[in-house]
Amino acid sequence: MKRLLLLLPAILLTTHICASENKANMLPLIPYPQSVERQAGELQLGQQVQLSVASEAVHAGAAVRQLLGDRKVEVSADTGPAVALVVVEESALGDEGYRLSIGDEVRLEAQTDTGLFYAVQTLRQLLPVEPQDSYTLPKLTIVDTPEFAWRGTMLDVARSFLPISYLEAHIDRMALFKLNRLHLHLSDDQGWRVEIKSHPRLTEIGGASSVEGGRSGFYTQWELRDLVAYGEARGVTIVPEIDLPGHTQAAIASYNELACQGVTNLSTYSGVEVGFSKLCLDQPDVTYPFVEAVLAEIVDIFPSEYIHIGGDEIKDPLYAEFISRATKIVADLGRTAVAWEEGSVAEMDNNVLLQLWNDEYDIQPALDRGHQLILSPCSYTYFDHGNYDGQPDTYTWCRKEGVPLERAYSLDPQSFKQIYGVESAMWSELVHTDETADNRLWPRVITTAELGWSPLEARDFDRFLYRLDALRPHLDALGIEYYRPPELGW
Ligand code: ACM
Repeated sequence: MKRLLLLLPAILLTTHICASENKANMLPLIPYPQSVERQAGELQLGQQVQLSVASEAVHAGAAVRQLLGDRKVEVSADTGPAVALVVVEESALGDEGYRLSIGDEVRLEAQTDTGLFYAVQTLRQLLPVEPQDSYTLPKLTIVDTPEFAWRGTMLDVARSFLPISYLEAHIDRMALFKLNRLHLHLSDDQGWRVEIKSHPRLTEIGGASSVEGGRSGFYTQWELRDLVAYGEARGVTIVPEIDLPGHTQAAIASYNELACQGVTNLSTYSGVEVGFSKLCLDQPDVTYPFVEAVLAEIVDIFPSEYIHIGGDEIKDPLYAEFISRATKIVADLGRTAVAWEEGSVAEMDNNVLLQLWNDEYDIQPALDRGHQLILSPCSYTYFDHGNYDGQPDTYTWCRKEGVPLERAYSLDPQSFKQIYGVESAMWSELVHTDETADNRLWPRVITTAELGWSPLEARDFDRFLYRLDALRPHLDALGIEYYRPPELGW
């Protein structure tokens, strides 16, 4: 029923709007662009092109050279069609938008390096994955900007660790789909994954633990700085989360004084329960210096404007005061906090972002105070839930039938108010290997990309499947061990 309703406005739109095209005419692009105008004819791209790259286009320039190199197309001084990356002043394109014109030449225009990087990704999706003698590109003009600023995926590396190699591969995969925020859940009861030089036991003790059957480990600050740069080159900002004041057993096991006096459970934890641990909010002289010291190092490692302070699943009379103070600590460090939805009870600056995760949570009071939301309602975006009803080793607490691809695609961000972005999450209590992570994330993460970028009228599940099927060679080339949804017949 919902899909039919979504289709109607599309049919009424003018011909250049993508969703009104029939499938055969549809470009194999995800996320689908805001506007596609097809022109008659095709451009033949042989084995040489004349490339020009604006000096500002550092990352986009690297991406287009990589693309041409992978497709065995040489850059020549005087032979072949022009491929030009041009910076333009055109405020309607914003920070991330671009224009891609394919006529007798290929012209990519944007206000920023990021916009040009996304234009390169669109060109990449229009080209086959395997090198060929020549490439046929449709003549067209695409003008494209994202619906939402934040298009994220969250990886829980705390319950079970994911190696840097996996995070880099994940960033490569995100980039192809114009996803731009990698939220790392760096601490929880079962593990602490980020080196904090002022508190080395956090990783000596907390880094060595994990959920039962999961992987332990931690990232050095040097590794994380490298990862930040890796993400920056691909349009992906790493958003660190230190989950506070609950979900802190790994911190307490590392520094017992963080627990209230009389608490006897001071060991590392490998179970899957939630809501039992907390920093002692009755001991502000211990708790706040710890929080300040940790967050100071976090902002030093991660240039992200937004720093996630957690705030979920904990009851304490001083909880609201803690969130107020922790968001202020982040602000004093020159950044803006993100908190899970429960943080909405606190008094704080209304630029703090709230991340909605329970479908039914009453977030209206926070909206009334002017907060913006990151949408992660669990029954659509929690990809630790099954790809299908009954998938082994998946959660069912939020939705007993799991979160199949069509369900994930059916989230309608435009029906919410004050949305800053969309993010899907993979918690790792039951995800202990790279292969399982791939299975849970892909192809569902691709729905997040489209929900976060494409206009409502471009969204239709059957057409999405058609485009996803066409892009399958890209998933294979990226080495993704994706789940095979039956509706795709893969
Ligand atoms: C959450 O799922 N506890 C944010």
